[in-house]
Amino acid sequence: MDEPTRTTIQCVGDHVGRTVCIQGWVYNRTDKGRLQFLLLRDGTGLLQAVGFQKDLSPETFAAVAGLTQESSVRAWGVVREDARAPGGFELGLTELEVVGQAEPDYPIQPKEHGTGFLMEHRHLWIRSPRQATVLRVRATLSRALREWLDDEGFVAVDTPILTPTVVEGTTTLFQTDYFGQPAYLTQSGQLYNEATIAALGRTYCFGPTFRAEKSKTRRHLMEFWMLEPEMAFADLEEAMDVQERLLSHAVGRVTDVHGADLAGALGRDPAPLARVRPPFPRITYDEAVERLREAGFPDFAWGDDFGAPHESALSEQFDRPVFVTHYPTAVKAFYMEEVAGRPEVCRSADLLAPEGYGEIVGGGQRAVSLPLLERRIAEHGLPREAYEWYLDLRRYGAVPHSGFGVGLERLLAWLCGLDHVRETIAFPRMLERMVP
Ligand code: 4AD
Ligand code: MG
Repeated sequence: MDEPTRTTIQCVGDHVGRTVCIQGWVYNRTDKGRLQFLLLRDGTGLLQAVGFQKDLSPETFAAVAGLTQESSVRAWGVVREDARAPGGFELGLTELEVVGQAEPDYPIQPKEHGTGFLMEHRHLWIRSPRQATVLRVRATLSRALREWLDDEGFVAVDTPILTPTVVEGTTTLFQTDYFGQPAYLTQSGQLYNEATIAALGRTYCFGPTFRAEKSKTRRHLMEFWMLEPEMAFADLEEAMDVQERLLSHAVGRVTDVHGADLAGALGRDPAPLARVRPPFPRITYDEAVERLREAGFPDFAWGDDFGAPHESALSEQFDRPVFVTHYPTAVKAFYMEEVAGRPEVCRSADLLAPEGYGEIVGGGQRAVSLPLLERRIAEHGLPREAYEWYLDLRRYGAVPHSGFGVGLERLLAWLCGLDHVRETIAFPRMLERMVP
């Protein structure tokens, strides 16, 4: 007889009536005496395997009956269609090899556990179907975002993680020692993107970024992934057009590939995602302030930055992501282009996600004037020497240019309908936790 086909749980449906080999882990076992039910997982799905004493050798049946949760196995059996089984198929066991018998005290049981406990056991928690689903959606999302940019002619350029420059303010820096000089873990690749566009036209970087955020919220991580496109000869409006198209593509791809997982394992309502189509509404900060004053924040002062409650109140008024543009210059980073004739506001745009998820993208048009940037660097208390290379970009062929940064974890939290960004990355770095 030929060696039975080795397959994955996702693909068992292609092998109905045939003997296959599945390699995976025991998610659960139910003992019915002469009948053992195993729920196997292999990273692609869950499959029920049924072991009858009469179909197995005495040694194999004893091994099956002794399997502990998370033991790793190779299981052989015949694939049967069964509407009652999870996934619609079942494996009638004919042989099983225990690859690694798990110790009997696996910490995560198929029941409710507290978040602190789960975070301590994150290295094991990621095995649970819900967590594994989020990680799979994340991979599809990253790929869809990159794919769209690649197809539109953006060139991927990797930017450094150790940098001498501050991009997004001095209060959230992770500082380290670079052979006697201070260096920071990058807050954003943007300043380097502004250099690479003059070489390549349109570029993007995608990698981990770091912020020592002293705030403990459901939207902040210390280490998060940001996708940052940058475009030469593009203004703020064009950057918003690109964001709309990029996000609509990525959300569409994720719902195409993972629609069933989102609705199933994650319980995500698909309706808000189906509405993600251009154009996204655009309101100015001035208009946003008016709306806030009418929507429960009568004393909101012009010039203040928005907090989570304000972003939620605004995004609730729209059925798809909404751009808020032209923020006060004082609440934004040093590099923002000012509005002609109204320097107190800048050509910035934040994209707020629906359903209270708040800012998922931040960006804008970059200042091109050398004197303006020199002044801003001084006003923001930044060390001029570290920015000389950046100022060269204004000295040699400056052009209007714009870009933005998509926070991958925030976007994913919204897509998956998660309460907290801690579940969007395999090993989150949080204010009070760096382990595992
Ligand atoms: O708005 P931010 O700070 O913008 C920048 O860093 C720009 N330099 C990007 C650019 O124009 N190239 O960050 C961009 C996005 C936010 O909208 C948010 O989604 C995410 O990054 N983000 C965080 N995500 C998780 N945890 C944090 N601490 C985050 N800080 C920002
Ligand atoms: Mg921002």
